[in-house]
Amino acid sequence: MALWDSRFKKSLADNALRFSSSINIDGKFFNEDIDGSKAHVKMLVKQKIILASEGKLIFKALEEIRKEISSGKLKLDWRKEDIHSLIEDRLVEKVGETGKKLHTARSRNDQVALDERLYMKKEIAQLTKLARTLQKTLLKKAEQYKNTILPGYTHLQRAQPILFSHHMLAYVSMLERDVERLNDCMERANKSPLGAGALSGTTLPINREYSSKLLGMNGIIENSLDAVSSRDVMIELISICSIVMMNLSRLSEELVLWSSQEFSFAVFDDSFSTGSSLMPQKKNPDIAELIRGKVGRVYGSLFGLLTVMKALPLAYNRDMQEDKVHLFDATDTTKDCLHLTSELLKHTRFNKNRFEKELDGDLLLSTDLVDYLVRKNVPFRKAHNLVGKIVALCVDQNKKLNQLTIIDYKKISPKFESDIFKLFTAYASVKNKKSQGSTSPQEVEKQLKYWKNKIK
Ligand code: ARG
Repeated sequence: MALWDSRFKKSLADNALRFSSSINIDGKFFNEDIDGSKAHVKMLVKQKIILASEGKLIFKALEEIRKEISSGKLKLDWRKEDIHSLIEDRLVEKVGETGKKLHTARSRNDQVALDERLYMKKEIAQLTKLARTLQKTLLKKAEQYKNTILPGYTHLQRAQPILFSHHMLAYVSMLERDVERLNDCMERANKSPLGAGALSGTTLPINREYSSKLLGMNGIIENSLDAVSSRDVMIELISICSIVMMNLSRLSEELVLWSSQEFSFAVFDDSFSTGSSLMPQKKNPDIAELIRGKVGRVYGSLFGLLTVMKALPLAYNRDMQEDKVHLFDATDTTKDCLHLTSELLKHTRFNKNRFEKELDGDLLLSTDLVDYLVRKNVPFRKAHNLVGKIVALCVDQNKKLNQLTIIDYKKISPKFESDIFKLFTAYASVKNKKSQGSTSPQEVEKQLKYWKNKIK
């Protein structure tokens, strides 16, 4: 039996019903559906649309149904089309005619829009928490390897030395913007569409603000057409998930690179590594690779939902039932990846002294030489050109900067004095950085303090 049977001579064909049923997807938010229904019933009672005794009966039965679903006693049967129908039918089974009053002044259109918003609120809160946990893990790593130096890259070519802690803090700061975006999205998600009816409102004297308040929401979506037919906030959340995933994929990529023999910088704990079925020596970074790979799913969800919504006329269209697949997959995947990134990092050791010696006299210290000349009043462009000649000499002679003699240097510019040799360690390079937000130990310490204070 469907909710609208009296209008039809035949019931929906089995294959059509199976095709259109969404219960295997929207069964996931039965809790939100029941919470929304309870607020709706309370409002109906307050507005004297139904009796308090009827409200009580429905309330009690809804709580029982919640238990029945969570215990698996009430099966999510695809013949019920969706979670809303399943719960309503079960309610009528339990309390008879009174149960038929639950849907007064409500359509599944405003109901599903509400459930989705309640679900998004929960997801946003969890995503925020997981992002915070990852930030804390990154901070711990920054602290643990405070003075570890590694080459910083642009174009994946050695550029200038940086502190590993500085590198970790870059991700903390990226995640901070993700958290800000989530907070911002929460503001918009936290508005109730309930009471919009099918599309145009209702002739019954409902109180939309009251049910919104009961649900802990911050007001209503005023325009009833907008309330039932917009999914932009959902798209916004999936786009935030996409940005989070993009950020995570960059860290994953770095972990993959760093764990290679060529870098020999990151060592994953065995409990977070996999082997090869063929090559006995292999220790693979599968977890990081999977996080990198799962970005595809989340971007797919973003494009999936954008495409579902494209050119849909107002108001509700059944196409929109497809929204939840994308929402659920995007937030589930992102939550998983935030968690696993944090766990993986916790189980990763970094080779503290991997680069320090290697970077002594390395060409990535060239900029420090340029700045040396600038401090001696050589115009920057000219200094850059002079140091370029030094680099060319090193490349020609296959030497490091600290393997040329002061005579070599003086031939290129008399401004070079023997104090340049003090510049040729990676540590001197980072230590000499002066600018705010730079990789100097003092600046990184300042940032560390700032973040530790902010993220507790
Ligand atoms: N299962 C539907 C969905 O998720 C609920 C709304 C159905 N509304 C309708 N007019 N058929 O979109």
